[in-house]
Amino acid sequence: MSRAIQQAQLAQDMKRLKKQLQRLCQDRLDVADGKRLRVLDLACGECFEAEMLSKALRDLASKDAHPLDLNVEFVGADIREAEIGRAAERCGSGPEGIDYRFLVKDGQKVAQDADLDEPFDVVFVRHQNYYLGGKEWHALFEQSLEKLAPEGKLVITSYFDHEHELAKGAIQKVGGELIDDIANREARALQTKGKHVDKRLAMFRRRER
Ligand SMILES: C[S@@+](CC[C@H](N)C(=O)[O-])C[C@H]1O[C@@H](n2cnc3c(N)ncnc32)[C@H](O)[C@@H]1O
Repeated sequence: MSRAIQQAQLAQDMKRLKKQLQRLCQDRLDVADGKRLRVLDLACGECFEAEMLSKALRDLASKDAHPLDLNVEFVGADIREAEIGRAAERCGSGPEGIDYRFLVKDGQKVAQDADLDEPFDVVFVRHQNYYLGGKEWHALFEQSLEKLAPEGKLVITSYFDHEHELAKGAIQKVGGELIDDIANREARALQTKGKHVDKRLAMFRRRER
């Protein structure tokens, strides 16, 4: 497949994901005037969604009377160094009031990590990989919930319906409370049967302890 086609597909995928994220996040995030919105994209790989996600969250604030007064602090983290390197190279230091940082981290151990000590308003896990190691993902989800600010939200996306259900069950088991679960009906089908780009999305808060 040519690079141009790949780029066009990626752009379409991002457009669809943005639409679904806005549907899921509208009126559910604290995007008050002058706020610093802290976003952790965990297991982000090369993080092709970084720019879209930051802008989508800023656009949520634009519905208010003060369109630009929301600063997004974006941290992308993944266990793979090469992917994190490429993400950092692509996003640079971030234009338009968005501050990007990319870190090599094991998502199973972020709760006590000194680089990530401030809580996050949004933890995003795109295309969680529950099928490739349930135990590991239980730990990663638990740590994601630990990183949330009191009103913070965990948002996941999944390639497969069944994998999504497994991840939802795991998150609820480790202390998450399901807020909403939506299907992306425009999601692009991939070669593997049943696999679609961002086929399902769900949002959670941390259950009160
Ligand atoms: C299916 S990929 C999704 C990547 C990216 N979020 C996307 O949607 O393109 C799953 C990602 O989880 C990362 N991952 C797996 N275990 C991890 C861990 N313990 N800590 C951090 N990242 C992990 C992998 O390196 C990989 O980038």
